[in-house]
Amino acid sequence: MHYHDCFVNGCDASLLLNSTNNVPAEKDAPPNLPLRGFDKIDVIKAKLEMACPGIVSCADILAMIARDSVFLTYGPYYAIETGRRDGSRSVATDIQGNLQPPTSNVTTLEATFKQKGLTAKDLVVLSGAHTIGHSLCSSFSSRLYNFTGHGGLDPALDPTYVPKLMCECKPNDNTTRVEMDPGSAFNFDLGYYKDVARRRGLFTSDDTLLHDPETKAYIERQVMASPDEFFKDFAESMVKMGRIQVLTHDQGEIRKKCAFVN
Ligand code: HEM
Repeated sequence: MHYHDCFVNGCDASLLLNSTNNVPAEKDAPPNLPLRGFDKIDVIKAKLEMACPGIVSCADILAMIARDSVFLTYGPYYAIETGRRDGSRSVATDIQGNLQPPTSNVTTLEATFKQKGLTAKDLVVLSGAHTIGHSLCSSFSSRLYNFTGHGGLDPALDPTYVPKLMCECKPNDNTTRVEMDPGSAFNFDLGYYKDVARRRGLFTSDDTLLHDPETKAYIERQVMASPDEFFKDFAESMVKMGRIQVLTHDQGEIRKKCAFVN
């Protein structure tokens, strides 16, 4: 959620605003429909407003939740910056060109990250977040059943992994979620890089990182490494991501409820 927030008009909690006046908000745009946990954020925000009203922005809550999710899944604990203020604009169409689909190639991904002040290294490091969590079958099933547009399988996928994915994800399944790093979806570890190196990355946007020498070298190094390098890099890249187009002071507000401007 922090990534989807920061990449669209900056880390300003625009992701959390509800649609208004027939203008669909970011959260109702197709790339954000799989996101979960908006209700949990409302609970956290309500408790914070009771304890210390008007102090903690929804944008900072997203940054802290991301940090804590990593720590609670046995990843690194890192210091983050706070003081972001919440924005007032959330328009679904603003997503175009900012959040790239899972079918993207490395050139497009690197260009989009560059626009945000992030490097190819940040891309391969932050993609390592796919070591935790789940994906809807519909987010990658075209690789199984319709790669060419007229059926067919993506030859970039490990053929010995395909039967397991086909078993979990039947054609046109829009509801099942599968582990992105099988068997280790609640462990923030090097599993993502091991998967991608074996051509078991779930998305083309994961596999494509093998097509740039720099991102490929990073992946291949992590396969045999201790997690120290990745943990340190991940913390640094998350702090960088959390700085994208931040609003401070009177540029924004501290929302009372994350789904509504004050
Ligand atoms: C590089 C471009 C990226 C693409 C194309 C991409 C794409 C996706 C897709 C398609 C899903 C599955 C959504 C679903 O069907 O439920 C997903 C899940 C996820 N992504 Fe990414 N992602 C990218 C970068 C990132 C970054 C930078 C982070 C965090 C730093 C991240 C963290 C996650 C997490 C934690 C999940 C699991 C969500 C869950 O369990 O519900 N992703 N991503």
